[in-house]
Amino acid sequence: MTGKKRILSGMRPTGPLHLGNLHGALNNWVRMQNEYDCFFFIADWHALTSDYENTNAIPEYIKNMMIDWLSVGLLPDKSTLFVQSQVKEHAELFLLLSMITPVPWLERNPTYKDQIVQLANKDLSTFGFLGYPVLQAADIIIYKANGVPVGIDQVPHVEITREIARRFNYMYGDVFPEPEAILTETPKILGTDRRKMSKSYQNAIYLSDSEDTIQKTVSGMITDPGRARKNDPGNPDICNVFEFHKLYTNKEDVSRFNKECRTAEIGCVDCKKMMAKNLSNALLPIREKRAHFELNPDLVEDIIREGNSKARKIASQTMDQVRSAMNI
Ligand code: TRP
Ligand code: SF4
Repeated sequence: MTGKKRILSGMRPTGPLHLGNLHGALNNWVRMQNEYDCFFFIADWHALTSDYENTNAIPEYIKNMMIDWLSVGLLPDKSTLFVQSQVKEHAELFLLLSMITPVPWLERNPTYKDQIVQLANKDLSTFGFLGYPVLQAADIIIYKANGVPVGIDQVPHVEITREIARRFNYMYGDVFPEPEAILTETPKILGTDRRKMSKSYQNAIYLSDSEDTIQKTVSGMITDPGRARKNDPGNPDICNVFEFHKLYTNKEDVSRFNKECRTAEIGCVDCKKMMAKNLSNALLPIREKRAHFELNPDLVEDIIREGNSKARKIASQTMDQVRSAMNI
């Protein structure tokens, strides 16, 4: 572990993971395991900032999220995998950081303003929701992470984290490194309706979907809208199914479908069937690992327990330094 830079990232447990999560985050995390000292955690307290009213499903979401993670290849002997609410030190640091965080930093946070508009059906005029980035800052700096792999939408939060760390260091002495956002190129993958893949749009393909479900979902995908009949030539360049082919189908077939679509030699029904088959085959190892973990729930619990305790150890060391720097 020595010499390796430390990275940390988290996800809110709001439901099963889909292909958007796989290509946008998880595949990168899995790759980074070889290069970095990795911390990945399930941000259940963060889920409460907007979904505070009904908390029934959270325990199930947490368990399933850890199974999703393990199924795609996150490894507990390479990465520390844990649950935020089981490391209470995050809450203590959150409280202390809240003392030194100016409210205008939070009010001008673009994600904050954006979410208030987007989630107009929820009352987000809460203290906890405003303080979201302070909790996130605590998550990150309590492990003295150097890098934070995140999507572009999370960059403002890493920026606020840097500002909070800087302010802390300035007031109480150098305790925290300033973390950097790590943005990785990710293949563009859209939902079945060509909007961003998201649970709330009901346009997602889930890692846990069966082959049957995948076939059904893919058969409903929007293709080249100009191709009304089978005899009309199509344009793969504007077809979402073809984007999936590029990710899941071998090169020869991709160039064949590319040609046969333009000449109307292949119809969308067949084209989709083949894509669904290839996609399902690619997800098969994930489904198999999932089945293994579902049969062995104790194994998953052990992994979480061990991850929690590894995380707690480091978090509590940092908190000793924090308390001493702040004279508490
Ligand atoms: N805010 C992140 C998201 O919604 C989740 C998160 C919470 C996180 N704490 C974090 C990500 C710390 C990176 C680092 O996706
Ligand atoms: Fe898309 Fe395939 Fe239909 Fe062409 S044949 S429009 S690539 S689904």
